[in-house]
Amino acid sequence: MLKVVVLVSGGGTNLQAIIDSVKSGNIPNTDIVGVISNNKNAYALERAKAADIPAFGISPKDYETRELFHKELMRQLAELKADLIVLAGCLIKIPDEMVKKYNNRIINIHPSLVPSFSGVGFYGLRVHEAALERGVKITGATVHFVNEIVDGGRILSQKAVEVKDDDTPEVLQKRVMEQAEWVILPQTIADIATGKIKIG
Ligand code: GRF
Repeated sequence: MLKVVVLVSGGGTNLQAIIDSVKSGNIPNTDIVGVISNNKNAYALERAKAADIPAFGISPKDYETRELFHKELMRQLAELKADLIVLAGCLIKIPDEMVKKYNNRIINIHPSLVPSFSGVGFYGLRVHEAALERGVKITGATVHFVNEIVDGGRILSQKAVEVKDDDTPEVLQKRVMEQAEWVILPQTIADIATGKIKIG
């Protein structure tokens, strides 16, 4: 049984896609053992609770230093005995010590075709604003291993999405989520659960 912990910060639509895929059997042999958010008010935590998944708000604001926040995050992950950590709309920078401890066991969903519109400063709507500013005709989403470089780890899956002439950043974001993110993130977890993608 693959034990998965999902790190979130916001609405949790990618988390919901994972929850639904586990429930439907599209992601086999997998148990979401916990959801952790740096934002205690994240709706993603409500989604976890509704699915009877242990939900934890661990905010950096509650810790004197960033190191103490990281220490608590690592303690909680160890307690949950995570095999795989999934960053699903997670906006915190993963500390190097966590990248080292969970080498090739942390994956992230990024809302563009990496390396385009990725790296420091590219998150949320900013990614889609940059794609529209550049005038690309296709964009999409990427699932990649997390390493010490923001959005720099080995690419595991990508899915392209059409950009339409009258797209706003919000409309494009929704299409990328619906047609790409919510498809390739569950599929990548399923590939890990079935051994098609090796982790660790
Ligand atoms: C998504 O676009 C995701 O790619 C990005 O954060 C956004 C919100 O995701 N990382 P969610 O609804 O919280 O899953």
